[in-house]
This record gives sequence, structure tokens and C-alpha cells, in this order.
Amino acid sequence: MHNVIANQGDQHLSKNDSGLKSTDPRQRAWVEVNPAAIEANARKISCLLDKNCSLMAVVKADGYGHGAQTVAIAALRGGANSLGVATLQEGIELRKVGIDCPILVLGNLIHDEELSACLDWRLMPTLSSLREVRLCHVLSKGASKNFLVQLKVDTGMTRLGCSLEIAQDLIKTIDELSHIELKGVYSHLALADEDQKCSSGSFTQLQKARFDELVHALPKRDKDFCFHLANSAGTLRDRGLHYDMVRVGLALYGYSPSCELQFDLDLQPALAVKARVTLVREVPAGIGVSYGHRFTTNRPSRLAVVGIGYADGVNRALSGKISALFNGRSIPQVGAITMDQLVLDITDHRELNVGSVVTLLGRDGGHLITPKHWSDLIGSIPWEVLCGFKHRLPRLVI
Ligand SMILES: Cc1ncc(COP(=O)(O)O)c(C=O)c1O
Repeated sequence: MHNVIANQGDQHLSKNDSGLKSTDPRQRAWVEVNPAAIEANARKISCLLDKNCSLMAVVKADGYGHGAQTVAIAALRGGANSLGVATLQEGIELRKVGIDCPILVLGNLIHDEELSACLDWRLMPTLSSLREVRLCHVLSKGASKNFLVQLKVDTGMTRLGCSLEIAQDLIKTIDELSHIELKGVYSHLALADEDQKCSSGSFTQLQKARFDELVHALPKRDKDFCFHLANSAGTLRDRGLHYDMVRVGLALYGYSPSCELQFDLDLQPALAVKARVTLVREVPAGIGVSYGHRFTTNRPSRLAVVGIGYADGVNRALSGKISALFNGRSIPQVGAITMDQLVLDITDHRELNVGSVVTLLGRDGGHLITPKHWSDLIGSIPWEVLCGFKHRLPRLVI
């Protein structure tokens, strides 16, 4: 068993039947997070960058489900210089635990109160409009503080960002205002993680060309000002997309954003999802299993009930399609995945018993189950699988 540091509050001494303390977070199901893997991944990604290009670790959505604080500390150790979050609250939480590096809020903040908190907590907001620029100016002037901000420009994602047509004027306006300091201009790639052999590749290049045009039109800026465009896919795909900084999420957590980008970087998945067998049943042939009896035993069977379900983040659409790992062997999941449990067919795996721990996602022996295995089965993406693990699953830092 790993040496586990629980982030679940105090531990008590009483023991239950499985030999665990009653407050041990490994009673039922949990997520194991390996910060050493994140640190190593950050280091490997940093090695791809020129010395003038820095790494922003994207730790939004609670560090893609890994725990934002754990990820932030590991990524900074591995060479990241700044962090990207989606919301004001995510940024404040990192400040509260003493993380002091630059933090960029990637989402839009629309109220004075939010922007004012941003200023107080030294978080950099992303601005996309003149309205936001004016709000920041009024607030920073009132507080007699310098507000560090970044401008987002839409080069083809058609989500956040001002249009390219107004970008130069907006930058000029910001430059003329007191108390507001533009620290970066950035954009976001829409198709970099798609197959680049079709039109996606040329669209990524079109976004780059549009961004380049703006970069070249602007007067020379301070040394600590940065232009940035690339997510994980852009970073792994093409150095020409790196500019002064790259914003990396998925690759930091150990996964490639595209089948085309499975090269030698040897990224290490940092997360495993584990759960315990809570009941073993011997049943005859012809027995329907779980809601809807989607699976019927075709032989006398041994079934294991495992304490994890869709309320924990194992999508119900995966029912009957996934496997769990035990002692390096793959065991089929059968019947509908329910809110809190799922069933494994362990007829050929007599070694499993009540209390056995199976791996739903992660490595066991020679097998590795990745978020992409799951997402491919249900028409989703690895990002969504990772963010889907609910807080009912304790995060254990190993
Ligand atoms: C603006 C922005 N930059 C960077 C990222 C990181 O993307 P990835 O996880 O593909 O590296 C995201 C994630 O969605 C994002 O929204």
C-alpha cells in the first residue's frame, strides 16, 4: 500500500473490519494524485521551451480534478512560473494557501466586486472589452494601486476575447490609462488538438498568422510582457506557437491532447481512481444484473459489487464497456453503473474478495487505463472525464 497523506482532516484510532481506521479515506473509493508525476511532466514540458518562453500551469477546475493546490505546488517545482485559473474563487483559494506567483484568471469577470477582489488578491484578470478596461481603471485609481491585467484577442475560437479589429485601439487605451498595466496579450487555439492533416492544421496556422499580425503591429514592450497562444496541443505540436509563454493543462497531468502527439515525451499520468469491493455474490446462470437487467449471466458467476458509481464521476454511459484492474489483470464491468456502485464479473478472478481494491483509472502492472479510454467509449474528451470526479471521492496525495 502507498504511503498516503490524506487531505481529509484528522485521523482517529478506531479500526473497522478491513483493518482501516474508520476515518481512513480509503473505505470505499478515492482518487490518488501523484505530485511527483506532475513535477516531472512540468520539467519535461519546460525542456521543450526556449529559454525566453515560460510555462503557465493551467490548474483550473481544481487542477483538472487533481486538487489545484497540489498541482500548483508540484508544477511550480517542475519549472512553471505562473498559474492559470478559470474563476476568481479558484485564484483566491491559491493565494490563501500562500501561493505567490502570478495568477491569470482565464474566465471573464464582469462585476466591480469581482474585479476589486482580483486587485486585492493580486490576481490578473483577462479583459475582452472596453467596458472591462474602464471598470479596472476606475477601481485601481480609487484604490491607488496598479492593476496588472491581460487582454484576450479572438483569433478564431469565437469565445472570449475582443475582435482583432479593435485590439490595437484597446491596447492603446490601456497604455494611456494610469494605474492599469497590460502584462500580456493572448489568444486561444480552437483546433490544435484535432487531426492536423485535415483543415484543422491550416486553421491553427491561420490563427497564428492573425496573432502574428497583432504581435508585429504593437510597439516593443517591457521584458516581462508576454504574448501567448498555445495550450498543450499547441505546445507539443509546434515551437512556432510558443511565443513568450505557453499555457499547459492536459499534458501537465500526463496525457497527450491528441493521438498524433504521442511522441517521446514520456508524460506520466498523475491520477488513479481506486475503489473497494464491498460485496461478493455467487449467482446462477440466467440472472439479470443491476437496473434494467442490461446484463444477464450466461454461466454460474461470481460478481463483485464495487463502491463507486456515477455520482462519483464514473459516467453511466460507460456501463458494460469498461474494465477494472486487479493484480495486473483486467476484469469486465457488467450491467448498469448505478449512482454509488458498479458490478464486476469476477468469475475468472477468484482472487478478488471483499475489501480488495481495484483500479478503475490508472496503472496496475502492465495495464494503464487513461481518461481517453473512457472518453472514446462515450463520445467525450479526456478533459471532461478528469473534471468529472466528484468531491465525494477523497483526493489522496501519494
Ligand atoms: C484559455 C486556456 N488556455 C489553456 C488551456 C489549457 O488547455 P489544455 O488542457 O488543452 O492544455 C485552457 C483549457 O481549457 C484554456 O481555456
